[in-house]
Amino acid sequence: MGKIGTLYRIAGPVVVATGVNARMYDVVRVGKEKLMGEVIQINGDKATIQVYEDTTGLKPGEPVESTGEPLSVLLGPGLLESIYDGIQRPLPVLREDMGDFILRGAYVSGLDLKKKWSFKPTAKKGDEVSGGDIIGEVQETETILHKVMVPPNKSGKIKDIKAGSYTVEEVIGTLDDGTELKLAHYWPVRVPRPTKRKLLPEIPLITGLRVFDGLFPLAKGGVAAIPGAFGTGKTVTQQSLAKWCDANIIVYIGCGERGNEMTEVLTDFPELQDPRSGKPLMKRTVLIANTSNMPVAAREASVYTGMVIAEYYRDMGYDIALMADSTSRWAEAMREISSRLEEMPGEEGYPAYLSTRLSEFYERAGRCIPLCEEGAGSISVIGAVSPPGGDFSEPVTQNTLRVVKTFWALDSKLAQRRHFPAINWLTSYSLYNDTLGQWFNQEVATDYSELAEKAMGLLQEEEKLLEIVQLVGSDALPEKEQVTLRIARMLREFFLQQNAFHPVDTFSEPKKTYLLMKTALHFGDLAYAALERGVRAQIITETKAKEKLADVKFEKDYEKELETITKAIDKEFDAL
Ligand SMILES: Nc1ncnc2c1ncn2[C@@H]1O[C@H](COP(=O)(O)OP(=O)(O)OP(=O)(O)O)[C@@H](O)[C@H]1O
Ligand SMILES: [Mg+2]
Repeated sequence: MGKIGTLYRIAGPVVVATGVNARMYDVVRVGKEKLMGEVIQINGDKATIQVYEDTTGLKPGEPVESTGEPLSVLLGPGLLESIYDGIQRPLPVLREDMGDFILRGAYVSGLDLKKKWSFKPTAKKGDEVSGGDIIGEVQETETILHKVMVPPNKSGKIKDIKAGSYTVEEVIGTLDDGTELKLAHYWPVRVPRPTKRKLLPEIPLITGLRVFDGLFPLAKGGVAAIPGAFGTGKTVTQQSLAKWCDANIIVYIGCGERGNEMTEVLTDFPELQDPRSGKPLMKRTVLIANTSNMPVAAREASVYTGMVIAEYYRDMGYDIALMADSTSRWAEAMREISSRLEEMPGEEGYPAYLSTRLSEFYERAGRCIPLCEEGAGSISVIGAVSPPGGDFSEPVTQNTLRVVKTFWALDSKLAQRRHFPAINWLTSYSLYNDTLGQWFNQEVATDYSELAEKAMGLLQEEEKLLEIVQLVGSDALPEKEQVTLRIARMLREFFLQQNAFHPVDTFSEPKKTYLLMKTALHFGDLAYAALERGVRAQIITETKAKEKLADVKFEKDYEKELETITKAIDKEFDAL
């Protein structure tokens, strides 16, 4: 414990104290109520502290004490299924204890300290172990096996280790230097957990959304942004990804602004079913929720809390998908704290370090060989951005654009037309296209990436043609271009559109994505060929068989259906 200091100045969530013997980022206890805070600036004898709790009622002269420790998360079995606030205080527990409000100064552990876990060692006496090595297992939930690791900064020879039933604080073994091994350990949230080495992002994170897997794929360990104006589908997309993407574990950080936005997440999420196991999705999820009545500093910390938890499971060799909805609220928290610090504001009042913070955060994503060198783990990050008025030129969107490799741009016009997911295929992009294309060609179909490129080309051409149509009308278009418009429309309607709430079409496996794309393009090939033979464009666009494609995506047995339709299309063209 450091020297006790004195509160000197209070400005909302930011306070200044003198005489605290603290280092940068030490956690301090502020005031008589011992509110939790973190040192974010030191100037001579003065320490500036962001407080994670409501500072109403604090008075100058009250005591401030350093804990000498940085803001940390307790990592161990029991994280899954938890719902936390931004500094890992379990929300349901708090709600039980004190209604909907979080009691100020409340210290609640992030893990249930009383719960016993059945521990099976996989290491034995005499083993040389080092940081990150797996020494045993706990069945954390029905779906996830928790690997118990040596904390990253410890190593030595195992003196003893015993199977049994333990709480996260009990000693499960010791190293020969006396280090006690437990099921859980603390890790500072602002420090990335070390790994052995990074791997190239060569494997896709299958999302089950055709527009993503088909045109703008995300890699496991990759970073994506979903910017979108109010009501364009950020939350629906993120939740659909959480449910369907092929990650083992989901870390979902909700940063709500409106009160009911978070209530939605808190009520919706625990109800989601894991389509793979049939069990609740929470069995492999950690939910972090910032409601609007929570202090901004806790919101600022929440993305780091979520990231450390993701890193912890990555270190066990799991694939994690981390969603933040929305990162704009996080940036706004930074802006508010910065303004309280009276820092020189950058663009639109955001601090000058906004871009550094964003890139440092996204850089913690990646696919790597963990310290234990068993398998590979990954963290894919998908951040929603909510630019005010849907204006993508604002600083948070722009700075995010600079660091992410996949950009899934939501579009208000598409959402208004009820084209869902309202992803604009002209402004979106994926820099993983080349590497992941190879994966899809190998695993799904040899011409997967070729077809995707072709589809993209048609959609781009459609845009140009539509501009012309606006000027001169569609009758003035050459026949070939009229056919192009028809094929592009098929791609939009049969392939790109996907209703997140339809029981079957909510998820499209890569094979289905491929076959739908292929069938539409097959029609295209036949159409152009017929045109060459002298068939009129109008006859081609009015063919009947292709219309059946409209409903195939809603069928469970889409393969058979597609075969039948393809045959009918072929027959119809043969007869032209
Ligand atoms: N993929 C989809 N399939 C079907 N409907 C969708 C889809 N995406 C969005 N919608 C519709 O759009 C509505 C708004 O979506 P959502 O709440 O995700 O928007 P948002 O961008 O998160 O909005 P906000 O800015 O308010 O957070 C949904 O309630 C739903 O009706
Ligand atoms: Mg939303």
